[in-house]
Amino acid sequence: MKALVLAGGKGTRLRPITHTSAKQLIPVANKPILFYGLEALRDVGISDVGIIVGDTAEEIREAVGDGSAWNLNVTYIRQAEPLGLAHTVIVARDFLGDDDFVMYLGDNLLLESLRPFVEEFQRHRPNAQILLTEVPEPERFGVAVLEGDRVVRLVEKPREHISDLALVGVYLFDRTVHEAVNAVEPSWRGELEITDSIQQLIDRGRTVRAGQVTGWWKDTGKLEDMLEANRLTLSELETRI
Ligand code: G1P
Repeated sequence: MKALVLAGGKGTRLRPITHTSAKQLIPVANKPILFYGLEALRDVGISDVGIIVGDTAEEIREAVGDGSAWNLNVTYIRQAEPLGLAHTVIVARDFLGDDDFVMYLGDNLLLESLRPFVEEFQRHRPNAQILLTEVPEPERFGVAVLEGDRVVRLVEKPREHISDLALVGVYLFDRTVHEAVNAVEPSWRGELEITDSIQQLIDRGRTVRAGQVTGWWKDTGKLEDMLEANRLTLSELETRI
C-alpha cells in the first residue's frame, strides 16, 4: 500500500499566516501539521509516499527532504494548478500504478491511529473506504448519506442539509478510483472533486465503505480550527515535573 499526501493548495482561507508559509507547514504544538500525517502513515507500515506539491513545492521539499527522517521513501509530484483533489490522483497515476493507497490531506489532523481503518479495508476489500465524523457545519465539507454502513450518496459542500456526517481528509482506494477520477466534471468551484469521484464509484456499482472517527479530527482550513487543533494537541501531551 502506498500513500498520496496532498500538500499543494494556496491556503487562501488562512491568510495572512499563509503569506509567508505553506499551510501544511504551520506548526501545531511546535510541529508542522504535515509531519503528524507522515508519522501516522509510517505507523501503519507504509513506506512509499507521494507528496503532491504546488506553488510552495520548495518549502515542502526543504522541510520533508527524502523522507528518511521518518523512514519513508518520498516522491514529489507537481500539480501545476490546484484543480482539485481528484486531479491530484490523475497527476499521480504513474507513481500510484495499480496499488492500493491512502489519500491523506496534508492539512488534516487526526488524533487516532490509522491502523483500524487500514485493517478494515484489507479485511473487507471495498473499492473505497471513507472516514466520517459528525460536524456542526456540514456545508463546509463533503458529506455522506449512509444506509447501514453502506455509503449511498456523497455531496461536496451541500447547499441543502442532507447529512451531518462530514468526510475527513483520509481515504483508502484500490485501482478502480482511476476510472472514476477520469469520469468527473469540474464542480461549481472549478475543481475535480474526490467526493464526486467516490459518487462515481457508487454509481458504477463499486463498494464504498465508511468508518467513523472516534477521537477528534480537525481540518485546519480556518484560523479558529488551527488554534483549536493547537489546544487539543497540547492537551494530549503528557506532562512531567
Ligand atoms: C476537502 C474535501 C471535503 C472534505 C475536506 C476535509 O475540502 O473536498 O470533501 O470534507 O477536505 O478536510 P476542501 O478543504 O478542499 O474545501
